[in-house]
Amino acid sequence: MNENLLRLNQKVAIITGAGSSGPGVGTGKAISILFAKQGCKVVLVDNNKDRVKETLDLILDEGHEAISITADVTNNSDCKRIVDTALDTYGRLDTLINNVGVLAPGNVINLKESDYDKVMNVNLKSMVLMSKHSIPKIIEAGGGSVINMSSFLGVRSGSVFESVPYSVSKGAIIALTTTMAAEHGREGVRVNAIAPGNIYTPMVAGNLDQHQRELRRKAAPLGSEGTAWDVAWASLFLSSDEARWITGVVLPVDGGLLTTSPLTMFEHLI
Ligand SMILES: NC(=O)c1ccc[n+]([C@@H]2O[C@H](COP(=O)([O-])OP(=O)(O)OC[C@H]3O[C@@H](n4cnc5c(N)ncnc54)[C@H](O)[C@@H]3O)[C@@H](O)[C@H]2O)c1
Repeated sequence: MNENLLRLNQKVAIITGAGSSGPGVGTGKAISILFAKQGCKVVLVDNNKDRVKETLDLILDEGHEAISITADVTNNSDCKRIVDTALDTYGRLDTLINNVGVLAPGNVINLKESDYDKVMNVNLKSMVLMSKHSIPKIIEAGGGSVINMSSFLGVRSGSVFESVPYSVSKGAIIALTTTMAAEHGREGVRVNAIAPGNIYTPMVAGNLDQHQRELRRKAAPLGSEGTAWDVAWASLFLSSDEARWITGVVLPVDGGLLTTSPLTMFEHLI
């Protein structure tokens, strides 16, 4: 392929949560594969060693450039090690994809305090720590992009589960994104969030029965099921130079879900 047509040619990206596996492709895995196909050198991060190696092998087998790192992104020294390894291996950093996220159930009455703390740590603090170490290196590279993975649940309620810990973390990620965009814009760093809708990935597959899966599909105007590839294509655009004047946005990738209320979709749900 003509290298000039590759959207991320010679760029270097760190992608967290790149090692998901199971029914439905995980978002981190899809982003990693798509970015590598687009000429990007990808640094794959996950706390599951075997699964991140699976993603690595898929990319290397296709002749693209990647390394994998097993790390816990809630740990500050692990986050520093990830960024140091990216720099030691590829000499620069252009893009950070803060994709890691976990679920825990509960409303404010029945949630477990330990679940709340865990979700805030994994979903939110990890993005702060990864950004803390990555942004100075992105600035050194002359500017670049960060994407924080939020959710439609960070904007409004509407999960098939009670979801206070998850939703609160995803709302805070939007505040993190707009604040980072304002504070690092003059340094050439664009920071955007993606708010995926109901996507069928390994993270949710184990928690859904067939009926819930169908309800999630039918709840959005387009009426089709979202996949990790939909989020990966949006991430590719926001990370590319074509998005050079876009920062601080929250991009829904949701089949139109955020435009609706339950009554709009009533006839499709009964
Ligand atoms: N699936 C959906 O319907 C949906 C909807 C909205 C938003 N999202 C968000 O999109 C992102 C990706 O979701 P997904 O469903 O594709 O998951 P995914 O398949 O990308 O899996 C997440 C990965 O993160 C890894 N991980 C978890 N904790 C970690 C830690 N402490 N350190 C390192 N790695 C860790 C897991 O091993 C897993 O491989 C998440 O932030 C999620 O909240 C998903």
